[in-house]
Amino acid sequence: MKKILAVFLVLLVAGSLFAGGIKDKASAAVASGSAMIGLAMPETHVLRWEKDGNQLKAEAEKRGYRAEVQWADGNQSIQNTQIQSFLTQGAKVLVIGCINDGVAPVVAEAARDKVQVIAYDRLIQNSGDYDYYITFNNFKVGVLQATSIVEGLNLDAATTAAPKNITLFAGSPTDGNAFFFFDGAMSVLNPYIDKGVLKVVGPYPKTSADTANFARIATEGWQAPVAKTRMENLLSGDARNVTLDAVLAPNDPLARAIIEACKADAKYRTKLPVVCGQDAEFESSMSIKNGEQYSTVFKDTAKLAEAAILLADQILKGQSVNIPGAVLASGDLQKIGDTGRKTVKAYLLDPVLVTNKNLNVPVDAGFYTAAENAQLK
Ligand code: BGC
Repeated sequence: MKKILAVFLVLLVAGSLFAGGIKDKASAAVASGSAMIGLAMPETHVLRWEKDGNQLKAEAEKRGYRAEVQWADGNQSIQNTQIQSFLTQGAKVLVIGCINDGVAPVVAEAARDKVQVIAYDRLIQNSGDYDYYITFNNFKVGVLQATSIVEGLNLDAATTAAPKNITLFAGSPTDGNAFFFFDGAMSVLNPYIDKGVLKVVGPYPKTSADTANFARIATEGWQAPVAKTRMENLLSGDARNVTLDAVLAPNDPLARAIIEACKADAKYRTKLPVVCGQDAEFESSMSIKNGEQYSTVFKDTAKLAEAAILLADQILKGQSVNIPGAVLASGDLQKIGDTGRKTVKAYLLDPVLVTNKNLNVPVDAGFYTAAENAQLK
């Protein structure tokens, strides 16, 4: 009996070692560089994406993966070709920052090949063929932008007798994020507008659900020249007989384009409107330091890239997902992951408001080069 038990125990241990060995071998294959991660970034005309792509590649290689990154120049068909090439090369995971929902057919191809897709920063809309999305809390980005306008205008002390004037801009209507940024901002501004202490000059969509007015304030392709022209038209049109106190600008390149348009108008030569932004681009941080742009929103994209590759790693290894520093969207925030076809799991990182009081935040996070840091001092 003892002998049988001993043999049984030996077999059990050997069996579990063997199974463990298989599992280790599988993880080793994933980790040894045999698995490829394809990184598809949307554009380079907004600076962050260049960094995002390079950081994602570095993070993937740090974890032992083969990685390739491509930027698509704001053109979805170019990106689709790039993604198809990743699939041909045998990519096991795709991390995609898309341009618009025209990416859905290649996401479907990936799903047919059992390739996992992670929507990166931007939701892939109108697709039911993927499960994961990693981004920042985009509604909060808008809340922070508007909070800085409330602060910059001292709106809590404003009166109906002397209301402040604001004009509204939104990001690209092809990018789901633009809607969340705007709705977050309007959740803060609408009460002041309703009270009559803040007046909107130009189109006023109360929320992005007012699609006709949202289209009028949106900036196709996040193109700064488009925003600049629209601002110039506003200054000589709807805003000709008023002085604008603030502009809701959805990101830094658009904020700087808006400021440039204002600077060409004599009315704003001594006092610019309060203009918010997003991305903590170095040029905008300098502009904040120099008292032109009022605020930006810092999203630590190095952390986003790190989190996205950790997510890819955990998915590939069949582990349960646990991303330190990110929360799984729940409650109201769950709609951040609603593609229109399904609700994917959305992991959210936290954005931070930056004004001239805390320009050190992106600096301390290592967001800029040493030379840039020196200029921001
Ligand atoms: C990103 C922003 C960026 C914008 C334009 C958005 O989807 O979240 O960080 O400024 O696209 O590229």
